[in-house]
Formats: sequence, structure tokens, C-alpha cells
Amino acid sequence: MPLFTSVLVTPPTTEPVSLQAYNSLRLPAYASDCITIAQSAALLEVSHRLAKRPRCILGGGTNLVIRASQESPLQATVLINQLKGIVRLSGVVDHQVRIRCAAGESWQSFVMWTLAQGLAGLENLAGIPGTVGAAPIQNIGAYGVEVAEQIEAVHVWDFHQHDHAVLSAQDCAFGYRDSLFKNPEIQGPWNAPRYLVTAVDFRLWTDGRAPLRLGYSGIGQKLRDLGIDHQPNAYQVAHAVMSLRGEKLPDPDQHPNVGSFFKNPQVPDAFAASLAQKHPELPRYPQSGGTKLSAAWLIEQAGLKGWADSRAGVSSQHALVLVNQNEATAEDIQALARLVQRRVMGQFGVWLEPEPVYWPAG
Ligand code: EPU
Repeated sequence: MPLFTSVLVTPPTTEPVSLQAYNSLRLPAYASDCITIAQSAALLEVSHRLAKRPRCILGGGTNLVIRASQESPLQATVLINQLKGIVRLSGVVDHQVRIRCAAGESWQSFVMWTLAQGLAGLENLAGIPGTVGAAPIQNIGAYGVEVAEQIEAVHVWDFHQHDHAVLSAQDCAFGYRDSLFKNPEIQGPWNAPRYLVTAVDFRLWTDGRAPLRLGYSGIGQKLRDLGIDHQPNAYQVAHAVMSLRGEKLPDPDQHPNVGSFFKNPQVPDAFAASLAQKHPELPRYPQSGGTKLSAAWLIEQAGLKGWADSRAGVSSQHALVLVNQNEATAEDIQALARLVQRRVMGQFGVWLEPEPVYWPAG
């Protein structure tokens, strides 16, 4: 399939555009105008047109809180990234294959495509909502794997140079739910991002050769529950992961959400040890440079799992997920996030950092 097919670009709009269908929290948000980019050839013209004008880039809207009413829409052109296509870049070398996927492809569809091709490496990341272009931005991770481990390069449009550029995995400075694309010193403010991701190059394994990661709690047991006792393949691991996600996380169609609303906080080892003396059951994950704690556990112990008012709530399935109960606004979600932060701070002395991006920032 060729990369970057379909129409060039839809014309800019004049009325405020509703973004409710474009954000997975289903917040009633509006923008002054909106351009759908479906072919990379459109980028040069768009880049010059928006050089000195506010802009922001939307993928699947699955990690985004937009604060902008119809009366006061976002004063920025929203670029909806719908670049499509997947190509195989190489034959098999050392049991590995290189694949390029355009940024507007659905992440889940891409993972399923790789598995159907007999390729492994992304199976633990099955079932994550959002687009391929958003995956490197927050370095999506689940079940002991981060996407950075399989990324070879990220292709971008550079709004400063008005040209394409390629960033190596090292250039991307990946960290836990973090990358160069979240660094305001490089990427710029929320309404003037320097880079738009156009495609991502992955290095994947031919199945049977992949070092499958089954150690994360739950995967091994789930595989056994599914009757798979010996040598699972990547597809079976993905199936187990999707099954675990289905049990643990609220269904976004019924309870709109952005997945984890907070990052798991990293604290000094000594602080974690003193907390664990008071709370021996506190989950702790030692890292280089500190101990990671479970935000979900802290929120649940603060008595907030399942807490809800008429509009927004903390999921009763997973305490890390804030949900739109019923016509919540961004202000409702933000007020709930602050309540969670203050309660956890008051009880444990730990400040939880939100994971999603806010438009406007701050
Ligand atoms: N826990 C609770 N209460 C809950 C849920 C979990 O106490 O309501 C405890 C569990 O018992 C466990 C610990 O919290 O001891 C960790 O729970 P879990 O395995 O569900 O993982 P997590 O650290 O809460 C992270 C990612 C998820 C990813 C899961 C599975 C972050 C911020 N979140 O959650 O990612 O699916 O691991 O690997 O790192 C996302 O980013 O949107 C997301 C869902």
C-alpha cells in the first residue's frame, strides 16, 4: 500500500468547529478552524500559511483535554493528521524487518496488521487507543513494554524549516511517557509545535524469533486461562493483553476517558521506603534514580476509586482513569483531577502529574 494517499487537504472552515467527536473524553470543545491533512504534499503550503499563526496537531485525541467552549473557541487552526499507509522497508535481516507506518493510521489497526504479517514486537501494546503518530509523542507503554524499544526513526514535518526531517530514536529522547515532542524548549508552546509526525519506522521481529515479554503480572496467568501453556506466539500474547485491558479498563464508548490520567510518580528511594513502612502493601517499582509508585493504588487508598459527581468521576474499574460520566466539561474533569491530586498529596505527600496534554496548556 502506498504511503500518503487520498485528498490533499480540506479547506479551512469559517465557523467554530466542534471537536467533540475528535477527543476521547467527548468534551464539548471548539476550535476557530480546522484542516484535515491527508497527504504529505499538502504540508508545504499549510506550513507557510500557518508559519506565524497559532496551530495545534490532533491525532486520535485520546490523550487530550481541550478547554474551549463554543463562545470561546481555541484560537488556533487544528491540523487533523490523517496521513495513511504502511510499507515494508526491508526484507528479513537477522530475523528483523523494518516497517514504515504513516502517522494517521490507527495504532490498534497497525498492531493487528503487524501480527497478521507474522511480525512481533508490538503485541504487549495491543488495544491502546490513538494513532501511530501519537505513539512516539508520549512513548506509549503497557505490560512492561514501551514503544520506543521498537522505534528506529520518526519522520516529521518541521514547521521552522518548512521541510521534512528524520529524527533517530536517540534524537527523540524517549523516557517514561515522555519524548522530545513533549519538551517545550524544542517542540515550542502548545499552539506553535515545531514538529508534526508524518510517519514512524519500526524494527520488528519475525515471529518465533521475538523475545516475547510475558513477565508482567497477569499475562502468564491470562495465557494459561486461555489454554495456552507452552510457547505462545505474538498474536496469542496480544490476545491476552487485549483481554486483560478489557477486564481492567473502562470501555471508552460507554465511559469516555483518556486512559491513565496520571503518571506513576517517581520518588526518592528513602521516601518510598518510609511510605512502605506505614503502608507495607504499597506497590513499588525500583528504577535507576528513584522508586516508581502506583498512582492507581494511591488514588484507591485515598478513597477515590469510584468517586463521582453527576458529570465526572474516577472509574470504579481502574482508579487511574477519570471518566466523563454525563456531559462533563473540561472544567469538570480538571476540578476532579485537582481533587485527586490534593487528596493524594494530603494523605501520602506525593503530587500526581497529569498524563494528558492540555489545550490551552497550563
Ligand atoms: N491498582 C490499584 N487500584 C486500581 C488499579 C490498580 O491499587 O484501581 C494497583 C494494582 O493492584 C497494581 C498497580 O496498581 O499493583 C498497577 O496497576 P496496573 O497493572 O493496572 O498498571 P498501572 O501502573 O496503573 C500502567 C499504565 C497503563 C497500562 C498499565 C498496564 C501508566 C500511567 N499507566 O498502569 O497505561 O495499561 O500499566 O501495563 O503508566 C495509559 O497510559 O493510558 C494506560 C492505560
